[in-house]
Amino acid sequence: MILRRISVFIVFLSLLGCASPNLKERGFVTEQAMVVSAHPLASEVGAEVMRRGGNAVDAAVAVQFALAVVYPDAGNIGGGGFLVLRQQDGTVDALDYREKAPAAAHRDMYLNEEGQVIEGLSLKGHLAAGVPGTVDGMVQLHEKYGSMPWHELVQPSVELAAKGFPLTQKEAKKLNEQRKDFITYSTQRPEFILKDNWQEGDILRLPDLARVLGLIRDNGRAGFYGGPTADLIVAEMERGGGIISKQDLAAYRAAWRDPITQQVGEYNVVSMPPPSSGGIALIQLLTIAEEYPLEEWGWNTVKSAHLMVEAERRVYADRAQHLGDPDFYDVPVEGLLDTAYISSRMTGISLEKATDSDTVSAGVPAPPESPNTTHYSIVDAQGNAISVTTTLNSSFGSKVFVGGAGFLLNNEMDDFSVKPGHPNSYGLIGEEANAIAPGKRMLSSMTPTILEKDGELYMVVGSMGGSTIITTVYQIILNVTRHGHTMQGAISAGRFHHQWKPDWILSEWGALGAGTGLGLWLKGHKIAPKTGGIGRAAGILVLPDGKLEGGADPRGDDAAAGF
Ligand code: GLY
Repeated sequence: MILRRISVFIVFLSLLGCASPNLKERGFVTEQAMVVSAHPLASEVGAEVMRRGGNAVDAAVAVQFALAVVYPDAGNIGGGGFLVLRQQDGTVDALDYREKAPAAAHRDMYLNEEGQVIEGLSLKGHLAAGVPGTVDGMVQLHEKYGSMPWHELVQPSVELAAKGFPLTQKEAKKLNEQRKDFITYSTQRPEFILKDNWQEGDILRLPDLARVLGLIRDNGRAGFYGGPTADLIVAEMERGGGIISKQDLAAYRAAWRDPITQQVGEYNVVSMPPPSSGGIALIQLLTIAEEYPLEEWGWNTVKSAHLMVEAERRVYADRAQHLGDPDFYDVPVEGLLDTAYISSRMTGISLEKATDSDTVSAGVPAPPESPNTTHYSIVDAQGNAISVTTTLNSSFGSKVFVGGAGFLLNNEMDDFSVKPGHPNSYGLIGEEANAIAPGKRMLSSMTPTILEKDGELYMVVGSMGGSTIITTVYQIILNVTRHGHTMQGAISAGRFHHQWKPDWILSEWGALGAGTGLGLWLKGHKIAPKTGGIGRAAGILVLPDGKLEGGADPRGDDAAAGF
Protein backbone atom coordinates (compact mmCIF):
# COMPACT_ATOMS: atom_id res chain seq x y z
CA MET A 1 0.00 0.00 0.00
CA ILE A 2 2.73 2.44 1.04
CA LEU A 3 4.73 1.49 -2.04
CA ARG A 4 1.69 2.08 -4.21
CA ARG A 5 1.18 5.51 -2.68
CA ILE A 6 4.83 6.38 -3.15
CA SER A 7 4.76 5.26 -6.75
CA VAL A 8 1.64 7.28 -7.43
CA PHE A 9 3.39 10.26 -5.96
CA ILE A 10 6.48 9.70 -8.07
CA VAL A 11 4.30 9.61 -11.14
CA PHE A 12 2.74 12.79 -9.90
CA LEU A 13 6.11 14.47 -9.49
CA SER A 14 6.73 13.87 -13.15
CA LEU A 15 3.74 16.09 -13.87
CA LEU A 16 5.57 19.12 -12.60
CA GLY A 17 7.26 21.82 -14.55
CA CYS A 18 4.79 22.28 -17.39
CA ALA A 19 4.31 25.88 -18.47
CA SER A 20 1.09 27.39 -17.22
CA PRO A 21 -1.08 29.35 -19.67
CA ASN A 22 -1.72 33.01 -18.98
CA LEU A 23 -5.07 32.84 -17.24
CA LYS A 24 -5.77 36.57 -17.50
CA GLU A 25 -5.13 37.01 -21.22
CA ARG A 26 -8.25 37.55 -23.33
CA GLY A 27 -9.05 35.23 -26.19
CA PHE A 28 -10.61 36.22 -29.52
CA VAL A 29 -12.99 39.18 -29.01
CA THR A 30 -15.80 40.21 -31.35
CA GLU A 31 -18.34 43.02 -31.31
CA GLN A 32 -21.52 41.14 -32.16
CA ALA A 33 -21.54 37.43 -32.86
CA MET A 34 -19.37 34.42 -32.21
CA VAL A 35 -19.05 30.68 -32.70
CA VAL A 36 -16.54 28.54 -30.83
CA SER A 37 -16.28 24.93 -31.95
CA ALA A 38 -13.84 22.06 -32.23
CA HIS A 39 -12.87 22.89 -35.81
CA PRO A 40 -12.00 26.18 -37.54
CA LEU A 41 -13.96 25.25 -40.69
CA ALA A 42 -17.11 24.51 -38.67
CA SER A 43 -16.77 27.75 -36.69
CA GLU A 44 -16.42 29.66 -39.94
CA VAL A 45 -19.54 27.99 -41.40
CA GLY A 46 -21.53 29.16 -38.36
CA ALA A 47 -20.10 32.69 -38.45
CA GLU A 48 -20.93 32.98 -42.16
CA VAL A 49 -24.54 31.94 -41.52
CA MET A 50 -24.83 34.78 -38.99
CA ARG A 51 -23.14 37.27 -41.35
CA ARG A 52 -25.89 36.43 -43.82
CA GLY A 53 -28.52 37.33 -41.21
CA GLY A 54 -29.11 33.94 -39.63
CA ASN A 55 -29.63 33.66 -35.89
CA ALA A 56 -27.74 31.53 -33.37
CA VAL A 57 -30.01 28.55 -34.02
CA ASP A 58 -29.44 28.72 -37.78
CA ALA A 59 -25.72 28.82 -37.09
CA ALA A 60 -26.01 25.86 -34.67
CA VAL A 61 -27.73 23.70 -37.30
CA ALA A 62 -25.08 24.56 -39.88
CA VAL A 63 -22.24 23.91 -37.40
CA GLN A 64 -23.69 20.53 -36.35
CA PHE A 65 -23.70 19.30 -39.97
CA ALA A 66 -20.30 20.86 -40.73
CA LEU A 67 -18.77 19.10 -37.72
CA ALA A 68 -20.23 15.82 -39.02
CA VAL A 69 -17.88 16.26 -41.99
CA VAL A 70 -14.73 17.95 -40.71
CA TYR A 71 -14.66 16.52 -37.18
CA PRO A 72 -15.74 12.89 -37.52
CA ASP A 73 -14.38 11.94 -34.08
CA ALA A 74 -17.51 13.37 -32.50
CA GLY A 75 -19.30 15.62 -34.97
CA ASN A 76 -22.02 13.42 -36.36
CA ILE A 77 -25.28 12.54 -37.96
CA GLY A 78 -25.07 9.02 -36.52
CA GLY A 79 -25.11 10.12 -32.89
CA GLY A 80 -27.00 12.55 -30.72
CA GLY A 81 -26.68 15.38 -28.25
CA PHE A 82 -28.21 17.94 -25.98
CA LEU A 83 -28.59 21.67 -26.23
CA VAL A 84 -29.70 24.56 -24.12
CA LEU A 85 -30.69 27.87 -25.64
CA ARG A 86 -31.54 31.31 -24.39
CA GLN A 87 -33.36 33.80 -26.54
CA GLN A 88 -32.55 37.46 -26.42
CA ASP A 89 -35.73 38.07 -24.36
CA GLY A 90 -34.50 35.67 -21.68
CA THR A 91 -36.71 32.66 -22.46
CA VAL A 92 -34.84 29.39 -22.22
CA ASP A 93 -35.38 25.95 -23.71
CA ALA A 94 -33.59 22.59 -23.91
CA LEU A 95 -33.58 19.91 -26.57
CA ASP A 96 -32.73 16.28 -25.91
CA TYR A 97 -31.67 14.55 -29.11
CA ARG A 98 -29.94 11.75 -27.27
CA GLU A 99 -29.87 8.34 -28.94
CA LYS A 100 -32.33 5.66 -27.78
CA ALA A 101 -31.95 1.95 -27.22
CA PRO A 102 -33.42 0.03 -30.19
CA ALA A 103 -36.69 -1.86 -29.61
CA ALA A 104 -34.83 -5.18 -29.66
CA ALA A 105 -32.42 -4.05 -26.91
CA HIS A 106 -32.73 -5.70 -23.54
CA ARG A 107 -31.27 -5.38 -20.10
CA ASP A 108 -28.78 -8.23 -20.34
CA MET A 109 -27.78 -7.86 -23.97
CA TYR A 110 -24.10 -7.41 -23.13
CA LEU A 111 -23.88 -10.35 -20.69
CA ASN A 112 -22.81 -13.93 -21.44
CA GLU A 113 -24.64 -17.02 -20.19
CA GLU A 114 -22.86 -16.77 -16.84
CA GLY A 115 -24.11 -13.22 -16.43
CA GLN A 116 -20.65 -11.74 -17.00
CA VAL A 117 -20.17 -8.63 -19.10
CA ILE A 118 -18.78 -9.42 -22.57
CA GLU A 119 -16.01 -6.84 -22.72
CA GLY A 120 -16.16 -4.47 -25.65
CA LEU A 121 -19.59 -5.48 -26.96
CA SER A 122 -21.23 -2.23 -25.88
CA LEU A 123 -18.27 -0.21 -27.15
CA LYS A 124 -17.34 -1.38 -30.63
CA GLY A 125 -19.33 -2.85 -33.47
CA HIS A 126 -22.96 -2.79 -34.51
CA LEU A 127 -24.56 -3.73 -31.18
CA ALA A 128 -22.97 -0.68 -29.54
CA ALA A 129 -25.10 1.76 -31.51
CA GLY A 130 -28.20 3.50 -30.25
CA VAL A 131 -30.82 4.93 -32.61
CA PRO A 132 -29.32 8.23 -33.82
CA GLY A 133 -31.00 11.46 -32.75
CA THR A 134 -29.02 14.24 -34.40
CA VAL A 135 -30.98 14.76 -37.60
CA ASP A 136 -34.38 14.86 -35.90
CA GLY A 137 -32.90 17.14 -33.25
CA MET A 138 -31.68 19.61 -35.86
CA VAL A 139 -34.98 19.47 -37.75
CA GLN A 140 -36.98 20.16 -34.60
CA LEU A 141 -34.60 22.91 -33.50
CA HIS A 142 -34.89 24.61 -36.86
CA GLU A 143 -38.68 24.28 -37.00
CA LYS A 144 -39.10 25.92 -33.61
CA TYR A 145 -36.41 28.63 -33.67
CA GLY A 146 -34.69 28.81 -37.07
CA SER A 147 -35.06 31.77 -39.41
CA MET A 148 -33.15 30.82 -42.57
CA PRO A 149 -34.28 28.15 -45.06
CA TRP A 150 -33.20 24.65 -43.97
CA HIS A 151 -31.44 23.78 -47.21
CA GLU A 152 -29.14 26.82 -46.87
CA LEU A 153 -27.99 25.53 -43.49
CA VAL A 154 -27.18 22.00 -44.62
CA GLN A 155 -25.62 23.03 -47.94
CA PRO A 156 -22.22 24.11 -46.51
CA SER A 157 -21.68 20.61 -45.12
CA VAL A 158 -22.65 19.02 -48.44
CA GLU A 159 -19.99 21.16 -50.11
CA LEU A 160 -17.35 20.39 -47.51
CA ALA A 161 -17.96 16.65 -47.90
CA ALA A 162 -18.10 16.72 -51.71
CA LYS A 163 -15.13 19.00 -52.35
CA GLY A 164 -13.09 17.71 -49.44
CA PHE A 165 -11.16 19.56 -46.78
CA PRO A 166 -7.55 19.52 -45.53
CA LEU A 167 -6.85 17.34 -42.53
CA THR A 168 -5.23 18.95 -39.54
CA GLN A 169 -2.21 17.23 -38.05
CA LYS A 170 -4.28 16.01 -35.09
CA GLU A 171 -7.07 14.64 -37.31
CA ALA A 172 -4.64 12.87 -39.64
CA LYS A 173 -2.99 11.20 -36.64
CA LYS A 174 -6.33 10.08 -35.21
CA LEU A 175 -7.50 8.60 -38.52
CA ASN A 176 -4.27 6.63 -38.75
CA GLU A 177 -4.70 5.37 -35.19
CA GLN A 178 -8.28 4.26 -35.88
CA ARG A 179 -7.61 2.56 -39.21
CA LYS A 180 -7.45 -0.96 -37.81
CA ASP A 181 -10.74 -0.57 -35.93
CA PHE A 182 -12.48 0.96 -38.95
CA ILE A 183 -11.47 -2.10 -41.00
CA THR A 184 -12.42 -4.55 -38.26
CA TYR A 185 -15.84 -3.16 -37.41
CA SER A 186 -17.16 -1.75 -40.70
CA THR A 187 -18.54 -4.23 -43.19
CA GLN A 188 -17.61 -2.05 -46.17
CA ARG A 189 -14.46 0.01 -46.61
CA PRO A 190 -15.06 3.67 -45.75
CA GLU A 191 -13.35 6.60 -47.47
CA PHE A 192 -11.47 7.20 -44.23
CA ILE A 193 -9.12 4.29 -44.94
CA LEU A 194 -8.30 5.12 -48.56
CA LYS A 195 -4.84 6.11 -47.35
CA ASP A 196 -2.98 4.17 -44.73
CA ASN A 197 -0.93 7.12 -43.57
CA TRP A 198 -2.83 10.37 -43.66
CA GLN A 199 -0.72 13.50 -43.35
CA GLU A 200 -1.56 17.04 -42.33
CA GLY A 201 -2.93 18.89 -45.36
CA ASP A 202 -4.17 15.77 -47.17
CA ILE A 203 -7.61 16.43 -48.66
CA LEU A 204 -10.33 14.11 -47.38
CA ARG A 205 -13.32 13.85 -49.72
CA LEU A 206 -16.47 12.12 -48.53
CA PRO A 207 -18.80 11.58 -51.53
CA ASP A 208 -21.05 9.04 -49.75
CA LEU A 209 -21.58 11.41 -46.85
CA ALA A 210 -22.17 14.29 -49.30
CA ARG A 211 -24.97 12.25 -50.89
CA VAL A 212 -26.62 11.55 -47.52
CA LEU A 213 -26.29 15.17 -46.43
CA GLY A 214 -27.87 16.13 -49.77
CA LEU A 215 -30.83 13.88 -48.94
CA ILE A 216 -31.14 15.55 -45.53
CA ARG A 217 -30.87 19.00 -47.15
CA ASP A 218 -33.66 18.17 -49.62
CA ASN A 219 -35.96 16.03 -47.46
CA GLY A 220 -35.34 16.98 -43.83
CA ARG A 221 -35.87 14.11 -41.38
CA ALA A 222 -37.15 11.83 -44.14
CA GLY A 223 -33.72 12.13 -45.74
CA PHE A 224 -32.24 10.22 -42.81
CA TYR A 225 -34.94 8.22 -41.02
CA GLY A 226 -36.53 6.97 -44.26
CA GLY A 227 -35.67 6.35 -47.93
CA PRO A 228 -32.19 5.36 -49.08
CA THR A 229 -30.40 6.39 -45.85
CA ALA A 230 -32.62 4.22 -43.67
CA ASP A 231 -32.16 1.37 -46.16
CA LEU A 232 -28.38 1.72 -45.89
CA ILE A 233 -28.43 1.83 -42.08
CA VAL A 234 -30.59 -1.27 -41.81
CA ALA A 235 -28.54 -3.10 -44.45
CA GLU A 236 -25.42 -2.28 -42.41
CA MET A 237 -27.12 -3.66 -39.29
CA GLU A 238 -28.03 -6.87 -41.11
CA ARG A 239 -24.49 -7.37 -42.40
CA GLY A 240 -22.93 -6.69 -39.01
CA GLY A 241 -25.37 -8.33 -36.58
CA GLY A 242 -26.86 -5.07 -35.26
CA ILE A 243 -30.43 -4.52 -34.14
CA ILE A 244 -31.50 -1.04 -35.31
CA SER A 245 -34.59 -1.50 -37.47
CA LYS A 246 -36.57 0.67 -39.89
CA GLN A 247 -39.23 0.97 -37.16
CA ASP A 248 -36.64 2.25 -34.69
CA LEU A 249 -35.56 4.91 -37.16
CA ALA A 250 -39.11 5.92 -38.07
CA ALA A 251 -40.10 6.14 -34.39
CA TYR A 252 -37.19 8.30 -33.22
CA ARG A 253 -38.17 11.75 -31.97
CA ALA A 254 -36.03 14.29 -30.11
CA ALA A 255 -37.67 15.69 -26.98
CA TRP A 256 -38.04 19.29 -25.81
CA ARG A 257 -37.36 19.48 -22.10
CA ASP A 258 -37.49 22.19 -19.46
CA PRO A 259 -33.93 23.21 -18.76
CA ILE A 260 -32.74 23.06 -15.19
CA THR A 261 -32.41 26.59 -13.90
CA GLN A 262 -31.12 27.49 -10.48
CA GLN A 263 -29.66 30.62 -8.94
CA VAL A 264 -26.24 29.91 -7.49
CA GLY A 265 -24.69 32.97 -5.88
CA GLU A 266 -24.76 35.82 -8.39
CA TYR A 267 -25.45 33.56 -11.36
CA ASN A 268 -28.53 31.87 -12.72
CA VAL A 269 -27.39 28.54 -14.12
CA VAL A 270 -29.34 27.16 -17.08
CA SER A 271 -28.33 23.62 -17.95
CA MET A 272 -29.42 20.23 -19.21
CA PRO A 273 -31.89 18.08 -17.26
CA PRO A 274 -31.99 14.25 -17.34
CA PRO A 275 -31.35 12.10 -19.25
CA SER A 276 -28.17 14.08 -18.87
CA SER A 277 -26.72 14.16 -15.39
CA GLY A 278 -24.80 17.29 -16.34
CA GLY A 279 -27.12 20.04 -15.17
CA ILE A 280 -27.95 18.49 -11.81
CA ALA A 281 -24.36 17.55 -11.02
CA LEU A 282 -23.02 20.95 -12.10
CA ILE A 283 -25.52 22.81 -9.93
CA GLN A 284 -24.76 20.55 -6.97
CA LEU A 285 -21.03 21.23 -7.37
CA LEU A 286 -21.43 24.99 -7.81
CA THR A 287 -23.80 25.19 -4.84
CA ILE A 288 -21.30 23.43 -2.60
CA ALA A 289 -18.49 25.69 -3.84
CA GLU A 290 -20.61 28.70 -2.95
CA GLU A 291 -20.28 27.81 0.73
CA TYR A 292 -16.49 28.06 0.77
CA PRO A 293 -14.12 31.06 0.25
CA LEU A 294 -12.42 29.79 -2.90
CA GLU A 295 -11.23 33.29 -3.87
CA GLU A 296 -9.36 33.53 -0.58
CA TRP A 297 -8.03 29.99 -0.84
CA GLY A 298 -6.81 30.61 -4.39
CA TRP A 299 -6.89 28.73 -7.69
CA ASN A 300 -5.82 25.07 -7.60
CA THR A 301 -4.38 25.37 -4.11
CA VAL A 302 -4.47 22.38 -1.77
CA LYS A 303 -7.50 23.76 0.07
CA SER A 304 -9.52 24.56 -3.07
CA ALA A 305 -8.64 21.36 -4.89
CA HIS A 306 -9.35 19.20 -1.82
CA LEU A 307 -12.76 20.80 -1.33
CA MET A 308 -13.64 20.40 -5.01
CA VAL A 309 -12.59 16.74 -5.02
CA GLU A 310 -14.60 15.99 -1.88
CA ALA A 311 -17.67 17.59 -3.48
CA GLU A 312 -17.15 15.67 -6.73
CA ARG A 313 -16.86 12.38 -4.83
CA ARG A 314 -20.33 12.88 -3.33
CA VAL A 315 -22.01 14.31 -6.41
CA TYR A 316 -20.88 11.40 -8.62
CA ALA A 317 -22.14 8.93 -6.00
CA ASP A 318 -25.58 10.55 -6.38
CA ARG A 319 -25.25 10.38 -10.15
CA ALA A 320 -24.64 6.61 -10.08
CA GLN A 321 -27.65 5.93 -7.90
CA HIS A 322 -30.34 8.39 -8.86
CA LEU A 323 -29.98 9.49 -12.47
CA GLY A 324 -31.42 7.96 -15.63
CA ASP A 325 -33.93 8.64 -18.40
CA PRO A 326 -36.87 10.48 -16.78
CA ASP A 327 -39.23 8.88 -19.32
CA PHE A 328 -38.46 5.52 -17.66
CA TYR A 329 -37.28 6.31 -14.16
CA ASP A 330 -38.52 8.72 -11.55
CA VAL A 331 -35.45 10.93 -11.14
CA PRO A 332 -35.72 12.95 -7.89
CA VAL A 333 -34.69 16.19 -9.60
CA GLU A 334 -36.09 18.60 -7.04
CA GLY A 335 -34.65 16.63 -4.15
CA LEU A 336 -31.21 16.51 -5.73
CA LEU A 337 -31.28 20.26 -6.34
CA ASP A 338 -32.58 21.19 -2.92
CA THR A 339 -29.93 23.45 -1.38
CA ALA A 340 -30.37 21.99 2.10
CA TYR A 341 -29.90 18.49 0.67
CA ILE A 342 -26.81 19.57 -1.27
CA SER A 343 -25.29 21.14 1.86
CA SER A 344 -26.08 18.02 3.86
CA ARG A 345 -23.99 15.95 1.44
CA MET A 346 -20.87 17.71 2.73
CA THR A 347 -21.66 17.03 6.37
CA GLY A 348 -18.72 15.38 8.02
CA ILE A 349 -16.15 16.21 5.37
CA SER A 350 -12.77 17.06 6.74
CA LEU A 351 -10.81 19.92 5.23
CA GLU A 352 -7.72 18.05 6.37
CA LYS A 353 -8.18 14.51 5.12
CA ALA A 354 -9.45 12.77 1.98
CA THR A 355 -12.55 10.63 2.37
CA ASP A 356 -12.32 7.00 1.25
CA SER A 357 -14.87 6.63 -1.58
CA ASP A 358 -15.94 3.26 -0.14
CA THR A 359 -17.34 5.13 2.83
CA VAL A 360 -19.35 7.48 0.62
CA SER A 361 -22.67 6.43 -0.85
CA ALA A 362 -25.46 8.24 -2.58
CA GLY A 363 -27.65 10.42 -0.40
CA VAL A 364 -31.39 10.10 0.01
CA PRO A 365 -32.79 13.21 -1.60
CA ALA A 366 -36.26 14.29 -0.53
CA PRO A 367 -38.94 13.04 -2.93
CA PRO A 368 -40.21 15.73 -5.27
CA GLU A 369 -43.09 17.72 -3.96
CA SER A 370 -45.09 17.09 -7.09
CA PRO A 371 -41.72 15.30 -9.84
CA ASN A 372 -15.64 11.51 -28.05
CA THR A 373 -18.30 14.27 -27.71
CA THR A 374 -17.85 17.82 -28.86
CA HIS A 375 -19.26 21.11 -27.72
CA TYR A 376 -19.94 24.37 -29.50
CA SER A 377 -21.17 27.69 -28.19
CA ILE A 378 -22.81 30.43 -30.25
CA VAL A 379 -24.07 33.96 -29.59
CA ASP A 380 -25.69 35.98 -32.37
CA ALA A 381 -25.90 39.72 -32.98
CA GLN A 382 -29.33 39.89 -31.33
CA GLY A 383 -28.02 38.27 -28.14
CA ASN A 384 -29.59 34.84 -28.68
CA ALA A 385 -27.35 32.10 -27.33
CA ILE A 386 -27.07 28.37 -27.84
CA SER A 387 -24.92 25.81 -26.07
CA VAL A 388 -24.71 22.47 -27.89
CA THR A 389 -22.95 19.24 -26.93
CA THR A 390 -23.09 16.43 -29.47
CA THR A 391 -21.46 13.05 -29.58
CA LEU A 392 -20.87 9.57 -30.92
CA ASN A 393 -19.72 8.68 -27.35
CA SER A 394 -16.15 7.43 -27.79
CA SER A 395 -13.90 8.93 -30.41
CA PHE A 396 -15.36 7.73 -33.76
CA GLY A 397 -18.19 5.97 -31.89
CA SER A 398 -18.70 2.28 -32.62
CA LYS A 399 -16.12 2.44 -35.47
CA VAL A 400 -18.92 1.22 -37.73
CA PHE A 401 -19.40 3.20 -40.92
CA VAL A 402 -22.76 2.76 -42.55
CA GLY A 403 -21.76 1.16 -45.86
CA GLY A 404 -22.45 3.48 -48.81
CA ALA A 405 -23.49 6.32 -46.50
CA GLY A 406 -20.08 7.42 -45.24
CA PHE A 407 -21.02 8.21 -41.63
CA LEU A 408 -20.17 6.61 -38.33
CA LEU A 409 -22.63 5.15 -35.87
CA ASN A 410 -22.41 5.97 -32.19
CA ASN A 411 -21.49 3.54 -29.39
CA GLU A 412 -23.80 5.22 -26.94
CA MET A 413 -25.22 1.94 -25.59
CA ASP A 414 -22.11 1.83 -23.37
CA ASP A 415 -23.48 4.82 -21.46
CA PHE A 416 -26.15 2.52 -20.02
CA SER A 417 -25.29 0.57 -16.94
CA VAL A 418 -24.80 -2.77 -18.72
CA LYS A 419 -24.77 -4.52 -15.33
CA PRO A 420 -25.26 -2.89 -11.91
CA GLY A 421 -21.90 -1.80 -10.52
CA HIS A 422 -19.97 -2.63 -13.72
CA PRO A 423 -17.96 0.41 -14.88
CA ASN A 424 -18.52 1.77 -18.38
CA SER A 425 -15.71 3.08 -20.56
CA TYR A 426 -15.43 6.16 -18.35
CA GLY A 427 -15.26 4.07 -15.18
CA LEU A 428 -18.75 5.25 -14.25
CA ILE A 429 -21.01 2.81 -12.52
CA GLY A 430 -24.78 2.83 -12.40
CA GLU A 431 -27.78 1.05 -11.05
CA GLU A 432 -31.43 0.44 -11.89
CA ALA A 433 -32.04 4.07 -12.92
CA ASN A 434 -29.76 3.59 -15.93
CA ALA A 435 -30.48 -0.06 -16.84
CA ILE A 436 -31.09 -0.85 -20.53
CA ALA A 437 -34.69 -0.90 -21.78
CA PRO A 438 -36.10 -0.66 -25.32
CA GLY A 439 -36.67 2.95 -26.36
CA LYS A 440 -34.86 4.28 -23.29
CA ARG A 441 -32.19 6.98 -23.42
CA MET A 442 -28.86 6.25 -21.77
CA LEU A 443 -27.64 8.55 -19.00
CA SER A 444 -25.25 11.25 -20.12
CA SER A 445 -22.77 13.65 -18.56
CA MET A 446 -23.17 16.28 -21.27
CA THR A 447 -23.48 19.70 -19.71
CA PRO A 448 -24.39 22.39 -22.24
CA THR A 449 -24.79 25.42 -20.01
CA ILE A 450 -25.69 29.08 -20.09
CA LEU A 451 -25.10 31.47 -17.19
CA GLU A 452 -27.06 34.64 -16.59
CA LYS A 453 -25.97 37.47 -14.34
CA ASP A 454 -28.42 40.17 -13.27
CA GLY A 455 -30.94 38.78 -15.73
CA GLU A 456 -28.58 39.15 -18.70
CA LEU A 457 -26.64 36.63 -20.76
CA TYR A 458 -23.22 36.10 -19.15
CA MET A 459 -21.59 32.91 -20.39
CA VAL A 460 -22.20 30.05 -22.85
CA VAL A 461 -20.10 27.01 -22.10
CA GLY A 462 -19.77 23.25 -22.41
CA SER A 463 -17.24 20.54 -23.08
CA MET A 464 -16.50 17.08 -24.37
CA GLY A 465 -14.96 14.42 -22.13
CA GLY A 466 -17.41 11.71 -20.99
CA SER A 467 -17.56 11.65 -17.22
CA THR A 468 -15.13 14.59 -17.02
CA ILE A 469 -17.50 16.94 -18.85
CA ILE A 470 -19.23 17.96 -15.64
CA THR A 471 -16.06 18.75 -13.71
CA THR A 472 -14.57 20.51 -16.73
CA VAL A 473 -17.55 22.86 -17.00
CA TYR A 474 -17.51 23.26 -13.21
CA GLN A 475 -13.85 24.32 -13.16
CA ILE A 476 -14.24 26.70 -16.09
CA ILE A 477 -17.16 28.44 -14.39
CA LEU A 478 -15.30 28.70 -11.09
CA ASN A 479 -12.18 29.92 -12.91
CA VAL A 480 -14.12 32.86 -14.34
CA THR A 481 -16.60 33.61 -11.55
CA ARG A 482 -14.44 32.95 -8.48
CA HIS A 483 -10.87 33.28 -9.69
CA GLY A 484 -11.12 36.11 -12.23
CA HIS A 485 -9.73 34.26 -15.25
CA THR A 486 -10.65 35.38 -18.74
CA MET A 487 -12.79 33.00 -20.82
CA GLN A 488 -9.70 31.88 -22.72
CA GLY A 489 -7.64 31.58 -19.55
CA ALA A 490 -10.34 29.56 -17.82
CA ILE A 491 -10.46 27.10 -20.71
CA SER A 492 -6.70 26.86 -21.19
CA ALA A 493 -6.08 26.30 -17.46
CA GLY A 494 -5.07 22.82 -16.34
CA ARG A 495 -7.84 20.55 -15.02
CA PHE A 496 -8.33 17.75 -12.56
CA HIS A 497 -11.25 15.40 -11.95
CA HIS A 498 -12.69 13.02 -9.39
CA GLN A 499 -15.80 10.89 -9.93
CA TRP A 500 -16.25 8.97 -6.66
CA LYS A 501 -15.14 5.69 -8.22
CA PRO A 502 -12.42 4.94 -9.12
CA ASP A 503 -11.14 6.73 -6.04
CA TRP A 504 -8.41 8.88 -7.51
CA ILE A 505 -7.88 12.38 -8.80
CA LEU A 506 -7.16 12.43 -12.52
CA SER A 507 -4.89 15.36 -13.23
CA GLU A 508 -3.67 16.83 -16.46
CA TRP A 509 0.05 17.27 -16.82
CA GLY A 510 1.03 20.39 -14.93
CA ALA A 511 -2.50 21.17 -13.72
CA LEU A 512 -1.62 20.87 -10.06
CA GLY A 513 1.67 22.40 -9.04
CA ALA A 514 4.20 20.72 -6.77
CA GLY A 515 2.85 22.26 -3.57
CA THR A 516 -0.76 21.36 -4.31
CA GLY A 517 0.13 17.85 -5.38
CA LEU A 518 2.15 17.22 -2.26
CA GLY A 519 -0.53 18.78 -0.06
CA LEU A 520 -3.27 16.63 -1.58
CA TRP A 521 -1.16 13.53 -1.28
CA LEU A 522 -0.51 14.26 2.39
CA LYS A 523 -4.26 14.54 2.93
CA GLY A 524 -4.62 11.01 1.58
CA HIS A 525 -5.67 11.65 -2.02
CA LYS A 526 -4.46 9.37 -4.77
CA ILE A 527 -3.46 11.21 -7.95
CA ALA A 528 -3.21 9.70 -11.43
CA PRO A 529 -1.91 11.56 -14.47
CA LYS A 530 -4.21 11.98 -17.46
CA THR A 531 -2.41 12.15 -20.77
CA GLY A 532 -4.25 13.69 -23.69
CA GLY A 533 -6.04 16.25 -21.56
CA ILE A 534 -9.30 16.40 -19.65
CA GLY A 535 -12.26 17.75 -21.61
CA ARG A 536 -12.20 20.07 -24.57
CA ALA A 537 -14.37 23.08 -24.00
CA ALA A 538 -15.85 25.97 -25.93
CA GLY A 539 -17.02 29.09 -24.15
CA ILE A 540 -18.21 32.61 -24.85
CA LEU A 541 -18.18 35.32 -22.19
CA VAL A 542 -20.13 38.56 -22.47
CA LEU A 543 -17.71 41.29 -21.41
CA PRO A 544 -18.80 44.35 -19.41
CA ASP A 545 -18.82 46.47 -22.61
CA GLY A 546 -21.07 43.95 -24.37
CA LYS A 547 -18.33 42.49 -26.57
CA LEU A 548 -17.90 38.73 -26.73
CA GLU A 549 -14.78 36.85 -25.68
CA GLY A 550 -14.33 33.36 -27.06
CA GLY A 551 -12.51 30.61 -25.23
CA ALA A 552 -11.24 27.99 -27.69
CA ASP A 553 -9.58 24.95 -26.22
CA PRO A 554 -5.85 24.67 -26.98
CA ARG A 555 -6.12 20.91 -26.36
CA GLY A 556 -7.54 20.56 -29.89
CA ASP A 557 -7.83 22.44 -33.17
CA ASP A 558 -10.66 24.49 -31.68
CA ALA A 559 -11.28 27.95 -33.02
CA ALA A 560 -13.48 30.98 -32.48
CA ALA A 561 -14.94 32.90 -35.41
CA GLY A 562 -17.29 35.84 -35.58
CA PHE A 563 -17.65 39.55 -36.21
N1 GLY B 1 -21.25 9.80 -24.20
C1 GLY B 1 -20.83 10.61 -23.12
C2 GLY B 1 -21.94 11.17 -22.34
O1 GLY B 1 -23.03 11.31 -22.86
O2 GLY B 1 -21.78 11.45 -21.19
